[in-house]
Amino acid sequence: MQQDPTLDPRAIARLFPRDFTWGVSTSAFQIEGATREDGRGESIWDRFCRQPGAIADGSDGDVACDHYHRWQEDLNLVASLGVNAYRFSVAWPRVQPLGHGAFNAKGLDFYERLVDGCLRRGIAPHLTLNHWDLPQALQERGGWAERDTVHRFVDYAREVARRLGSRLRSITTHNEPFIQSVLGYETGIFAPGIRDRGAAIRVAHHLLLSHGLALQAMRADGVHSDLGIVLNLSPIEPASDSEADRARARLEDGRLVRWYMDPLLRGSYPQDVVEALGADAPRVEPGDMRTIATPLDFLGVNYYSRNVFRADGAVDPHTLGSEITDMGWEVYPQGLTDLLCRLHRDYALPDVYVTENGAAFPDDCVDSRVVDVARTRYIASHIAAAGRALAAGVPLKGFMVWSLLDNFEWASGYAKRFGIVHVDYATQRRTPKASADWYREFLRAERMSAAA
Ligand code: FCB
Repeated sequence: MQQDPTLDPRAIARLFPRDFTWGVSTSAFQIEGATREDGRGESIWDRFCRQPGAIADGSDGDVACDHYHRWQEDLNLVASLGVNAYRFSVAWPRVQPLGHGAFNAKGLDFYERLVDGCLRRGIAPHLTLNHWDLPQALQERGGWAERDTVHRFVDYAREVARRLGSRLRSITTHNEPFIQSVLGYETGIFAPGIRDRGAAIRVAHHLLLSHGLALQAMRADGVHSDLGIVLNLSPIEPASDSEADRARARLEDGRLVRWYMDPLLRGSYPQDVVEALGADAPRVEPGDMRTIATPLDFLGVNYYSRNVFRADGAVDPHTLGSEITDMGWEVYPQGLTDLLCRLHRDYALPDVYVTENGAAFPDDCVDSRVVDVARTRYIASHIAAAGRALAAGVPLKGFMVWSLLDNFEWASGYAKRFGIVHVDYATQRRTPKASADWYREFLRAERMSAAA
């Protein structure tokens, strides 16, 4: 594998400066398990997993990677890679079981141990407040479609920041509001499994509003961690030059990219999308847009693939002639360069981090070895693509691989493996894959070239 010149760690390492952030990402529900331990409340994903047919393999998050008990071993794995950052999320129902009212000391203690464990190992902790696992009790009051949830989130954010803020490098309010809104409330393939476009648009608005209010509240409380939000973004390309294909691609770009970037960085929703939504357009109250545009310390971008649209819908990635991952997503590293350069052109960006990038491929664990050539190539080529964006002037400060471990991949269950560390779910044995070895070697080369 190392013979492939495009994977040469030393060549790619030369693209990055000394102070660059390198990390791995996880999220609470996907790895923790222990869903009924130490006073944790129920989350919408616990409930959703019990809906027949909701999860491809009928699984749930009850055990997952058992990270709640194995976090020390997992942080040792993180440290062994040589990264300087770890991105994880807090399970809201673990620290505030009902999403309002009393906080759960044992839940907060767990994250305190985790954060201190990172610091002891020389790893900067990057915490996400909402990686989708809303307390079920709040869902019963309407969840994110209800404006009151905005204020519940701000209370939760303040408490976590009060306990941990001084030790965190960054705090992200929300991971991927688009996914929570559209997959959770419009197509219903993710929790809470609702199909109502109007509700989905309200959800997006409330997520953005709670983000802005939480930033203001945490800053007023004196929190010094960098504060920001993470969006899933992709270049959306028309299948042809025809006016109809271009119009569709523009609208899809409006819903995925501009619907979040415009309010966050310009303080307004894109007018073309507002018009297309008609009666489903959000009810914006006075002051909302200004709150949403509260200055960001950083923007996190999760990038996996591009999307190509024809007038009548998405083009099947299998017809595009590129390699395809186990998720059915096109491998398209140039899309990361294109996306970051476009954002840099169209918006006055704060610091940018690639907060997730990685790929699911079927892995074989043979004699305790997983030679995941395709994943290694995927990660190396996307790091190189990030380096090209940096060279073009994008204020890129870090890159985090999704994911440290194979884990519960939402509606796909455990069948899709994104980890650079293999997890044997029967024994919970962790085995670093060849991609983890490559990343470690790359980071060693990076440290050496930065020192030179
Ligand atoms: C992103 C999610 C992350 C993971 C990857 C594959 O949308 O943020 O939790 O599932 O996709």
